[in-house]
Amino acid sequence: MPTLLHLDSSADLVHSRTRALTAHFAEAWRAAGPNHLVTRRDLHRDALPHLPDAALHWPPRLRPADAHPPAAAETLQRELIEELVDADVLLVGAPLYNYSVPSTLKAWLDYIHVPGVTTPFDDTTQPMAGRQAVIVTSQGALYDPGTPREGWDHAVPLLEILLGEALGMALTVVTVPLALVDVAPPLAQFRERAEAEYAAAFDTLAAVAAELGAR
Ligand SMILES: Cc1cc2nc3c(=O)[nH]c(=O)nc-3n(C[C@H](O)[C@H](O)[C@H](O)COP(=O)(O)O)c2cc1C
Repeated sequence: MPTLLHLDSSADLVHSRTRALTAHFAEAWRAAGPNHLVTRRDLHRDALPHLPDAALHWPPRLRPADAHPPAAAETLQRELIEELVDADVLLVGAPLYNYSVPSTLKAWLDYIHVPGVTTPFDDTTQPMAGRQAVIVTSQGALYDPGTPREGWDHAVPLLEILLGEALGMALTVVTVPLALVDVAPPLAQFRERAEAEYAAAFDTLAAVAAELGAR
């Protein structure tokens, strides 16, 4: 059965733009066929503990001989990786927090990025290679090329490296800028653009979900 793994990480449970957009995608995914499943993981409501032991970055065969990571953390890591590998499509709500991803999403990445298990290291294993990942990100400000803050968004590049390069997934990134138009006076001039791009993102995501769901 075609399965979507739907992750959210916004700490805003009321006005979140990424949550609204990922929910719209998930709805379109479900509508793509009677057997289309959604596995939901809310990384803010059910936050993962920080990775408790560096040994968990490696499979047992690559750990130091004296490594003894907590068994419960190993079990959790196994569940998270299985959940990911069971997914045909990954959907990630990733708001820009302090120029990076929310720490809740970073914790998930720390569990699932395991050289030799989810990314090639001493062998060629790469179970997510070629699968689709849809990244939905919202920025408070504006990071366009040529603007003073060009290159300050480190959330999308991080996800491109980890999910795209390391895990080998095919990424679609939908970015909605200017969430803070009503709060930051210098951004007020961009209100029309902010509203238009936010509205357009819903249509884009519905179309991407329908297209991926039909494969
Ligand atoms: C803890 C926190 C840190 C933030 N840091 C940034 C930032 O570095 N740059 C930025 O443009 N906006 C920043 N924002 C604004 C958010 O990116 C923006 O409100 C976005 O819409 C949040 O996603 P959401 O609407 O899905 O909750 C921050 C917001 C929060 C709550």
